[in-house]
Amino acid sequence: MNSPIGVFDSGIGGLTVVKHLASHLRDESIVYFGDTARVPYGSKSEETVKRFAFENTKFLLKHGVKLVVVACNTASAVALDDLQRSFDVPVVGMIEPGARAAVRLTRRRSVGVIGTLATIESSSYERAIHAEDASVKTTSRPCPLFVPLAEEGWVSHPVSEAVAREYLDEFKTANIDVLVLGCTHYPVLRNIIQRAIGEHVRLVDSGEEAVKEVTGILKREGLEAAGGGEVYRHFYVSDIPRKFREIGERFLGRPIDGLTLVPQSDVPWYERAEERRC
Ligand code: DGL
Repeated sequence: MNSPIGVFDSGIGGLTVVKHLASHLRDESIVYFGDTARVPYGSKSEETVKRFAFENTKFLLKHGVKLVVVACNTASAVALDDLQRSFDVPVVGMIEPGARAAVRLTRRRSVGVIGTLATIESSSYERAIHAEDASVKTTSRPCPLFVPLAEEGWVSHPVSEAVAREYLDEFKTANIDVLVLGCTHYPVLRNIIQRAIGEHVRLVDSGEEAVKEVTGILKREGLEAAGGGEVYRHFYVSDIPRKFREIGERFLGRPIDGLTLVPQSDVPWYERAEERRC
């Protein structure tokens, strides 16, 4: 089936998932929506993030996607079940795949989880990890400043290093050997996080794990694209495309060609948005 895969995030973070999708599923087209006008989601209420998640999903469906990847842990934590119940296409989130990988990898039976305030407060990772193995100890903390640092592209900046040391210090006493990057923005800061936590701790990129789930669903449901067709990647943002392109390209390691601005409005913007190529 040659329809595209839809992916959304609050901003640039979901590109960490697109990167894995594009390298594992070369025949699949992708429509990405980064809600750059409303980022961050992680400090917003459950009700607001749920509304955004529904709007973003409807926007992607308008573009004919065959499967939706919620490339945002915050939206996955608060809205995944409702999205899966409400739409006919498969909807894949970040939490379960990340939790499964963490349980598989930990030897000390002690896993750390970092994410946005909303994700950590939802306890979704703890629930998912304990559903896999109740004996695994979890230690979690929100790291909200990582999101603007990633959006700013400060991937090897002394300020990001200092923030990472401050946030991750408390994990040292928890004896963890696996740390889940429970926010799709965080892999952008992977090197800094690894240095701050120490080389002995394995980092789990939930987005990378979720791509394995996407691959399985496409196969099982007969949704895979037939090879040899046109493959495209279209990127939509709700604000400031210049910055998204600059940082996104650096991160994806390839040019972002099809970038379109979808302006917000006071009615659900996806319904009457005038799209503008930029
Ligand atoms: N990248 C998102 C996540 O995985 C959200 C970051 C934010 O908007 O706060 O949670």
